[in-house]
Amino acid sequence: LRHLLGIEPLTPADIRTILDLADQYVDLSRGASKHSDVLAGLTQINMFFEASTRTQASFEIAGKRLGADVMNMAMQASSIKKGETLIDTALTLNAMHPDLLVVRHPQSGAVDLLAQKVNCAVLNAGDGRHEHPTQALLDALTIRRAKGRLHRLTIAICGDIAHSRVARSNILLLGKMENRVRLIGPPTLIPAKAAEFGVEVFDDMRAGLEGADVVMMLRLQKERMDGGFIPSEREYYHRFGLDAEKLAHAKDDAIVMHPGPMNRGVEIDGTLADDINRSVIQEQVEMGVAVRMAAMDLLARNLRAERAAGGGVYV
Ligand code: CP
Repeated sequence: LRHLLGIEPLTPADIRTILDLADQYVDLSRGASKHSDVLAGLTQINMFFEASTRTQASFEIAGKRLGADVMNMAMQASSIKKGETLIDTALTLNAMHPDLLVVRHPQSGAVDLLAQKVNCAVLNAGDGRHEHPTQALLDALTIRRAKGRLHRLTIAICGDIAHSRVARSNILLLGKMENRVRLIGPPTLIPAKAAEFGVEVFDDMRAGLEGADVVMMLRLQKERMDGGFIPSEREYYHRFGLDAEKLAHAKDDAIVMHPGPMNRGVEIDGTLADDINRSVIQEQVEMGVAVRMAAMDLLARNLRAERAAGGGVYV
């Protein structure tokens, strides 16, 4: 792999390779010394054109733990504000010889476009409604560690599927690993072509959660609703918010997930989100650092190999 732009091009073997290495980085991160030097001498630039807490912080921590020189571009204070385009910004940074570029952008496809213009490895940290590959990988690692496997599980993804890059990347990944994926939500928030992804669709939480091993909740992504229908939060919680009563329809040992940021009392009951016997939300955050360490390690190995083959020139 030269870039990590989405789950779509990954094979099941690629996914297993990333998760196996991430397992090792969980151990490193829990150890007395969290540091390695696998990215020593490399420069990582994080460009976030959209708000982020988890993804930006974990990419920064991951790069620093692996010994990279990490720079966070303050996009709000950049020349984007003076009208510079995304591509010109990328070309400008590219001229400073970065090795890893981590990009979040509100427009679907923007990160793919940028990757064609630079000669370093690009990691998609979320583009519009398109993909959020490291989120799906960290979710997969969390599931594999909690359930002991990542195949033949029944996984319910609930809420605003239509506007969610997290849902799209998870549907792709969980399908590749031969799981049964169910989408649960109001018909207005389920993509019209959902069935083409080989998933089952429900508009009733209790029916959709029946026998599920994993329950993944999503927030209402109002920032991407483009002035369309936004359900009342009270009504939404009543029908689609996860609480103990609705969760009782899933398996007794079903785990509860949420990529964050979470809106308590809208898509999930706050007490359930904090219940360490059911919720793995904090584990997801921990796995986020390990998965991003693994992804950058693997891309850096390929980058170095390509540079070595090309006599030190990476194009
Ligand atoms: N899950 C996720 O992408 O969270 P942030 O927006 O805080 O990065």
